[in-house]
Amino acid sequence: MELKTLLFTLASTVPLIKGETVLGVYIFSRHGDRTPKALAPANLTSLGADEVFDSGSYYRNRYIASDSSSPIFRLSRDIAVASQMTVTSPVDTVLQNSAQAFMQGLYPPVGTLSTQELANDTSVEAPLDGYQYIPINAVSTASSNTNSEDNEWLQGGSGCGNAMVSSNNYFISSEYLATYDETTSFYSDLLPVINSTFDADEANFKNAYTIFDYINVATIHNQTIPSSDLLTNETLLQLKVLANIHEWNLAYNASDKIRAVAGSTLAAQVVQQLNSTLTGKSKQPLGIQFGAYASFMSFFGLAQLPAVSADFTGVVDYASTMAFELVTNATNVSTSNYPSTSDISVRFLFANGTAAENEPQAYPLFGRSDTLTPWTTFAEEMAKISIGDTAAWCTACGNSTGVCASSTTGSDSSSSDANAASTSENGISLPVAGVIGALVTLVVVLGVETLVYFLAGLKLVKKATLAHAAASSGATGGAAGVKA
Ligand SMILES: *[C@@H]1O[C@H](CO)[C@@H](O)[C@H](O)[C@H]1NC(C)=O
Ligand SMILES: *[C@@H]1O[C@H](CO)[C@@H](O)[C@H](O)[C@H]1NC(C)=O
Ligand SMILES: *[C@@H]1O[C@H](CO)[C@@H](O)[C@H](O)[C@H]1NC(C)=O
Ligand SMILES: *[C@@H]1O[C@H](CO)[C@@H](O)[C@H](O)[C@H]1NC(C)=O
Ligand SMILES: *[C@@H]1O[C@H](CO)[C@@H](O)[C@H](O)[C@H]1NC(C)=O
Ligand SMILES: *[C@@H]1O[C@H](CO)[C@@H](O)[C@H](O)[C@H]1NC(C)=O
Ligand SMILES: *[C@@H]1O[C@H](CO)[C@@H](O)[C@H](O)[C@H]1NC(C)=O
Ligand SMILES: *[C@@H]1O[C@H](CO)[C@@H](O)[C@H](O)[C@H]1NC(C)=O
Ligand SMILES: *[C@@H]1O[C@H](CO)[C@@H](O)[C@H](O)[C@H]1NC(C)=O
Ligand SMILES: *[C@@H]1O[C@H](CO)[C@@H](O)[C@H](O)[C@H]1NC(C)=O
Ligand SMILES: *[C@@H]1O[C@H](CO)[C@@H](O)[C@H](O)[C@H]1NC(C)=O
Repeated sequence: MELKTLLFTLASTVPLIKGETVLGVYIFSRHGDRTPKALAPANLTSLGADEVFDSGSYYRNRYIASDSSSPIFRLSRDIAVASQMTVTSPVDTVLQNSAQAFMQGLYPPVGTLSTQELANDTSVEAPLDGYQYIPINAVSTASSNTNSEDNEWLQGGSGCGNAMVSSNNYFISSEYLATYDETTSFYSDLLPVINSTFDADEANFKNAYTIFDYINVATIHNQTIPSSDLLTNETLLQLKVLANIHEWNLAYNASDKIRAVAGSTLAAQVVQQLNSTLTGKSKQPLGIQFGAYASFMSFFGLAQLPAVSADFTGVVDYASTMAFELVTNATNVSTSNYPSTSDISVRFLFANGTAAENEPQAYPLFGRSDTLTPWTTFAEEMAKISIGDTAAWCTACGNSTGVCASSTTGSDSSSSDANAASTSENGISLPVAGVIGALVTLVVVLGVETLVYFLAGLKLVKKATLAHAAASSGATGGAAGVKA
């Protein structure tokens, strides 16, 4: 009912660029509204599911529906074809559920289109009005298939040594210590609001994000908040600003690029997927990944987006998406007349919050002035900020043991060494997702949130054990603890 109206409105607001063909797209999305991290485990809320579903519906109207404004070349309109897309998410219920809701918006139930005739003339419609089952590749389950290079990334993702050191350095930086000192009374004055969850010695800038998050969730969901008179608009804004400073500095430092390893692995994955779209003449034109706001921030920093607007140093809203469109003005595009790379550009779009309510806007990357980047330039610029395979990851992270022992010596002929080689040749999408998930773990678990995890009774020991178990058995768990 309401949905129909919404879809209609959306369709009419999508800008149309005449003559352009979209050859493929990569979308990276944050999860929708959820319960606070401080009260783990966090869950996607109904509101959150609506946000990502509506975002998926927006992209359906932009790229997929039969009357879409920018239909993607060779992408199936109504019936989702698994081989045409890769959808990934770390193993995390909020992110996995968000990915599912998004895909439902993108490829809604097909009703009678799912009807099939049996030998005895009976027709059968699929359950739930022809609901479509779209696989969401979970990083940790990838290790259970035969493609064992995924294991390496999964393990590698369990800790990038230099990035951990870098992020932890923020907590001893003069910037951090100054902000901490300046805000002691600001946070302690808020204790009446947060004291059911935070102790007095936790009410400080070290927990800037979790305190902001806890109060932000309450302002959305709780009809009554203790001492809510303390939460003036000015205070709420200050909470957000401080949380943004805190998270930005954990995710990116211009003079210490390894801190942004999440953005580097994402950059590699985007190029790898878009490149395979092009080499396959759009046989697989759609890549979608769900991940954390920290990955957005790390990528924004590396792609020089803060030069476009300081807003890019803020935590993105729930259900935010960035999209990388492969576009061409070449005419008469077909598989036998596929445009050459010199005729193809990348358009970067960002929607702050659900795309249904926040029309994605195009922004220039890498300090350029044009919002379109020629494909070859895009690939070159992304290569400068990318970490794209196990060996590069080990070198950048300064790790030389465990999974990195074989990839750095290069001399032994063990199976894992062979796997490392095939990783860089054959593609890295799932493993890279693992590293992204792991960076989130790194930033979130090893950084600020240690305290919160203890509060929630979720000991870090458990996380370490899981990671260790993954490392030794190749079982699931490397991405455990990912919270976004
Ligand atoms: C999330 O869901 C789990 C399982 O239903 C529940 O135990 C937990 O309390 C929920 N978390 C919050 C913050 O509501
Ligand atoms: C037709 O075959 C299906 C599957 O074997 C069965 O469930 C159904 O009852 C059959 N219908 C008739 C009319 O025999
Ligand atoms: C990388 O090194 C760090 C620091 O020594 C360590 O904590 C982490 O577990 C290592 N990661 C891997 C994948 O071996
Ligand atoms: C950024 O990195 C530089 C070089 O490592 C360091 O001196 C500085 O304190 C860092 N800044 C922050 C905010 O972490
Ligand atoms: C939280 O603060 C309020 C107001 O200062 C106080 O009445 C209450 O007892 C405190 N609760 C806890 C658990 O400390
Ligand atoms: C909001 O409500 C939840 C559930 O009742 C509660 O756990 C949480 O402490 C409340 N938050 C605030 C800031 O009052
Ligand atoms: C606080 O912000 C809300 C929402 O932006 C607005 O409706 C309200 O008028 C503001 N209150 C004051 C006192 O400025
Ligand atoms: C794209 O893939 C082809 C074939 O695997 C490879 O030769 C080429 O270097 C890749 N280009 C980029 C920019 O990654
Ligand atoms: C997105 O919105 C949030 C406010 O909700 C803001 O802090 C952040 O800077 C915005 N980011 C961009 C890129 O506009
Ligand atoms: C295609 O041409 C239009 C009109 O000149 C222009 O606005 C658009 O940016 C072009 N797109 C590409 C991918 O070159
Ligand atoms: C478009 O391409 C097809 C082959 O894919 C060709 O037969 C046709 O003549 C072309 N049309 C134009 C207008 O170039």
